[in-house]
Amino acid sequence: MKRILVTGGAGFIGANFVRYITAHTEVHVVVVDLLTYAGNPESLKGLPEERVELRIGDITDAKLVDELVSSVDAVVHFAAESHNDNSLHDPAPFVNTNVIGTFTLLEAVRRHDVRFHHISTDEVYGDLELDDPGRFTETTPYNPSSPYSSTKAASDLLVRAWVRSFGVRATLSNCSNNYGPYQHVEKFIPRQITSILNGERPKLYGAGTNVRDWIHVDDHSSAVWTILQHGAMGRTYLIGADGEQNNRDVLGSILESMGHERDAFDMVTDRPGHDLRYAIDASSLRNELGWRPQRQDFSEGLAQTIKWYRENRWWWGLLKTQTEERYSAQETTNARALAARGTEQ
Ligand code: NAD
Ligand code: DAU
Repeated sequence: MKRILVTGGAGFIGANFVRYITAHTEVHVVVVDLLTYAGNPESLKGLPEERVELRIGDITDAKLVDELVSSVDAVVHFAAESHNDNSLHDPAPFVNTNVIGTFTLLEAVRRHDVRFHHISTDEVYGDLELDDPGRFTETTPYNPSSPYSSTKAASDLLVRAWVRSFGVRATLSNCSNNYGPYQHVEKFIPRQITSILNGERPKLYGAGTNVRDWIHVDDHSSAVWTILQHGAMGRTYLIGADGEQNNRDVLGSILESMGHERDAFDMVTDRPGHDLRYAIDASSLRNELGWRPQRQDFSEGLAQTIKWYRENRWWWGLLKTQTEERYSAQETTNARALAARGTEQ
């Protein structure tokens, strides 16, 4: 593999993946990214220009996608609308990018017989009860809850159908919650870190008992690179690093690491339809492909992430103001939606 196309390479995980393969391989990377509110070319700053090329464009643009796909050996598809809260307020871009965008890429890789890896999420499986000892596996039935996760589920099914019907050479991966540098400040961990850095109190949705299965973004990158090289065609691999924690504990650790009391936060209106718990069983990836996570020490990863946000205010300062304005507007709508459904807050 000499040249790959990375869609969404100016977003959080895409940019970290481009950094990972630039550091660990000789591969030439073409990034295609629309630079939506979530994309930032600065996230690729400092990478060698002769190795990494950024093309600004939309993955639903069939002509552009065809041209880009025809020039590479493989496509790694990260581009998406990725935030659940936004999908509850304006689902249209989620259907467009996540479903039509994936369809457009699949048609291009089919025409040019190019290897495809589809990045997806554990949210396609819905959620687990807090006291359920089980975890998601590759055979867990799809049961998505939000407009975001349902469009990701739709995109996964398109990929599976293109493999079966047209013989497209594709693999899929469904990963749990990522954290690390360059993550948009709308997401839980960076939102809380940057609020504390701004002297504001963090906001916890509901009671904070919801559980997420945290993985450092570098471990996601190494898993994707492993699958791209050694994955079996048509297979789905679950990516996770045994990092289950509830939101209250994660927020307590952030506050403590930053010199505050663990309970120095406000409880705010819950997210409508809020998934309770995600948990990944990544044994296929471990046993069949020999992948191992290297960044499982959450305290260490969190401390490095806090340090990164402390030192890179230039990257997030403006985004923070815009994001909190958006959240204020969304909170009023959420409260109305929950009241209309008679859901307790
Ligand atoms: P992100 O929102 O940070 O980045 C998405 C990127 O896609 C942005 O750079 C954006 O500009 C680009 N993009 C959006 N629409 C586009 C379009 N129409 N054409 C071209 N580019 C477009 O998202 P992320 O958190 O980095 O997630 C990346 C992928 O990983 C997504 O597919 C997401 O579903 C998946 N995923 C995320 C997580 C997580 O914890 N963040 C976990 C599992 C899977
Ligand atoms: O599981 C994988 C998914 O993880 C990815 O597919 C998504 O793209 C990614 O955004 C993430 O989804 P979540 O909804 O789990 O992530 P988020 O960071 O939005 O929220 C994490 C948890 O924290 C969730 O239970 C909601 C809660 N939360 C979030 C925010 C922004 C809060 O309590 N307060 C907040 O301010």
